[in-house]
Amino acid sequence: MDRIRIKGGAELNGVIPISGAKNAALPLMTASLLTGETLELRNVPRLADVNLLLRILGNHGVDHTITGKRPGQTAETGQTIRLDASSVIDTCAPYELVSRMRASFWVIAPLIARFGEARVSMPGGCAIGTRPVDLLLKALETMGVQIDVDGGYVVAKAAKGLRGAEVRFPKVTVSGTHVALMAATLAEGTTVIENAAREPEVADLASCLTKMGAKIEGAGTSRIVIDGVARLHGATHSVMPDRIETGTYAMAVAMTGGDVVLENTRAEYLQSALEVLQQVGASVEGTKDGIRVHRNGSGLRPVDVTTDPFPGFPTDLQAQFMALMTKAEGTSRIRETIFENRFMHVQELARLGARIRLDGDAAIVEGVERLKGAPVMATDLRASVSLVIAALAAEGETDIHRVYHLDRGFEALEAKLGRCGAQIERISG
Ligand code: EPZ
Repeated sequence: MDRIRIKGGAELNGVIPISGAKNAALPLMTASLLTGETLELRNVPRLADVNLLLRILGNHGVDHTITGKRPGQTAETGQTIRLDASSVIDTCAPYELVSRMRASFWVIAPLIARFGEARVSMPGGCAIGTRPVDLLLKALETMGVQIDVDGGYVVAKAAKGLRGAEVRFPKVTVSGTHVALMAATLAEGTTVIENAAREPEVADLASCLTKMGAKIEGAGTSRIVIDGVARLHGATHSVMPDRIETGTYAMAVAMTGGDVVLENTRAEYLQSALEVLQQVGASVEGTKDGIRVHRNGSGLRPVDVTTDPFPGFPTDLQAQFMALMTKAEGTSRIRETIFENRFMHVQELARLGARIRLDGDAAIVEGVERLKGAPVMATDLRASVSLVIAALAAEGETDIHRVYHLDRGFEALEAKLGRCGAQIERISG
């Protein structure tokens, strides 16, 4: 199994191109099942999760083609994928595939909406808490879907099609909002989603669905209204920039010091995290098509943070921020309110010399003067990249094992950091 070796201590200076967002690309790819015409997605990141979803869609009968590079494009220019779900032959998503990635469960929405039936294995994914699907299923039931569980599979039926309904989520759920949104596009009548997730990825999905002929208002707010249509058609859509990748590299620069321009991204997608970085002592400014982050010399100030749904501080940046706070000049408190078990990076950061104590849903991080390289193990996607951030500022060498977690969500990580001066290499085998 591959590992990543980092020799800490170097500043980061240069330009990092930000890829298309994994968490936007996955629901957008899933939406291809809603139409028999071709959906062309541009700026799709090259990630293991994208490839896995292509396999899952292929299992349903969705064909795909990936366009080759064009003149002027670099290794990290996003790929263009054309998805064609004109001949879906199977509405079952099997355990072997779905258990490896939670987001693949979302195929249930387009399948039930377009074909009136779906059989989808209960999901798996990153080990960051129980992560149930009750709210997704409840939303579908409200829209007239009959749900049964049989042998680990959710069996959904709606022989007469879906009907518009009021879907009121008791808590903010991105997956629930994606599922209700996709299903409602082909339901008969109007659906109102109350307490909808406001994450930019929801708005990106809605924007693509609208290009496909859906009638949607209010995406990006907590009330989305969808007027169902009889059919959707093909479209071309470019995946939004990855705000979590953006925030991750911004934190890496705050950690090591230096001056980096994050290209092809937008500050408005991660305002709360950028404000926190400024409080920590980094300078953050918008550029024409991105964000410049720099920090020189001065120490890192400790800042308390609580994760919240958008526009709050994202749970997907919690581990990275904790890595940063391990070297702050004082103690910070980081509270996780979205997932109950998202602290697996704590014990690995401790191997590098971090001082962190857990207190219920919070981690108390007592900044230390120096971290020291050690072998560590990646446990989930964002936890792994928090180890990268810590390793960049640790003395000596850190080997990060189980890097397949990183490959799920960070495109060309070693190349992007390496070009900015990080001493980072992948060791195969
Ligand atoms: C999405 O997961 C992201 N995944 C996650 O990113 C992200 O951490 C999360 O949203 C929150 O922002 C993708 O987009 C592929 P939720 P999702 O439904 O949609 C509870 C990463 O690292 N809940 O908003 O699955 C749930 O347990 C990943 O890229 C229920 O109780 O998250 C959690 O506590 C990890 N019942 C809360 O709601 C349900 O039916 C929010 O979950 C559904 C969710």
